[in-house]
Amino acid sequence: MTITFIGHGYVGLVTACVFADFGNKVYVVGHTPEKIERLKKGDPIIYEPGLKELLEKNIKAKRLMFTLNLKNAVAESEIVFIAVGTPPKENGEADLSMVLSVAENIAKSLKNDFTVVSCKSTVPVGTNKQIEAILLKNKPDKLKIAVASCPEFLREGTAIYDTMNADRVVIGSTSKRAIDLLVKLHEPVCGKKIVTDLASAELIKYTSNSMLAVKISFANLISFYCEKSGADVETVLNATGLDKRIGRIFMDPGLGYGGSCFPKDVRALISVGKNLGNDTSYLEAVEKVNVLARENFIKKIRQHNISDKKVAVWGLSFKPNTDDIRFAPSISIVEQLLKDGFKINAYDPVAADNFKKLFPPGNISYVDSPYDAVNNVSALLILTEWNEFKQIDLKKVKSLMKKPVIFDGRNIYTPEIIKKLGFRYFSTGRQPI
Ligand code: UDX
Repeated sequence: MTITFIGHGYVGLVTACVFADFGNKVYVVGHTPEKIERLKKGDPIIYEPGLKELLEKNIKAKRLMFTLNLKNAVAESEIVFIAVGTPPKENGEADLSMVLSVAENIAKSLKNDFTVVSCKSTVPVGTNKQIEAILLKNKPDKLKIAVASCPEFLREGTAIYDTMNADRVVIGSTSKRAIDLLVKLHEPVCGKKIVTDLASAELIKYTSNSMLAVKISFANLISFYCEKSGADVETVLNATGLDKRIGRIFMDPGLGYGGSCFPKDVRALISVGKNLGNDTSYLEAVEKVNVLARENFIKKIRQHNISDKKVAVWGLSFKPNTDDIRFAPSISIVEQLLKDGFKINAYDPVAADNFKKLFPPGNISYVDSPYDAVNNVSALLILTEWNEFKQIDLKKVKSLMKKPVIFDGRNIYTPEIIKKLGFRYFSTGRQPI
């Protein structure tokens, strides 16, 4: 099949690479010449494990083409995927301006008798109907189109695996011809195919991301109870999670959810709810707990009175295996620490360059190793659970620090072991040591 992706963010780029790898001819359309040039040369722009190799392989095989020319790519394609951003507006609503203007451009570029236009961007209920109306208004009379909603569920860090081995493939459309084409395209993808209407497909995506955010906030809420009551959050959640109806996955307490999806999608679902006249206090509470998780962490640091205000930060990305810092807990925590007059040595395996754009070097020194970060500081703050921190030589870490104090926002260490090593240890939902 010949297909086009408009947009080369995580969703567009990874999915395009995967479909090219399955043997399809895939165009990826962007609008920044510099980025398209980099992509053409096999530079994925973003850090995602395995993506560079997949990109290079499929460019070499001439199955994957990057272009600024939307018109030519769309004219040749049986399926066009819209995969552009839907950033949150001030009021929490998803900003659909890019999606809708792309729809108009697609309509004006159509050449095939029949083209499926499928939206992979996360959009509120009703958006695909809007896309359909724009396409019908702007397309040449003789040509037929069908609209489909195909939300994406990939996680950063495991994006390629998730795309090839999805838990489910959701295809929302009222056109049998579009459904047949999309089912065929997704044949090599593992996972149940759910064929449904447009509105349900749109809502499935928001429901999934918000449900996961609910689980995380609930785990954080329970961690507050544990800290004040003397209970141990890991024991409580492990035991609770053994109930198969609940499960333990996505119930890790810590610094709350970040990234490009959960914060934006919970907000957008609140906004959709308001527009529909629904009560949105449940989801607002989820957001509130997410903020409290970070505030609780800062509170512990303040209570400790670090006299020389020199700390190390390990981990800046919103989660491991990505250089993405969008809505990362590190942002609000570092912001607060700087306001409080702290000097920070920061280390992250891949996200430091992105972080520097927000916080240029000055009161933050960016260093190349976790050991350099802890040199002569009075506390270590763990903000992202990168693997390399989990079995690091803690004796060496202690020997380098001025004072052996750890604030662990991700509960990566076992308190008993840390205690034996002689650290003071403040983690989440567990008693301080
Ligand atoms: C998420 C969804 O998982 C994915 O299906 C969707 O397509 C896009 O959004 P992603 O944002 O890449 O993926 O990251 P995810 O692994 O879901 O983590 C999101 C945030 O939640 C991270 O900040 C992470 O640290 C946090 N998290 C996750 C917790 O705080 N506790 C957990 O138990 C799990």
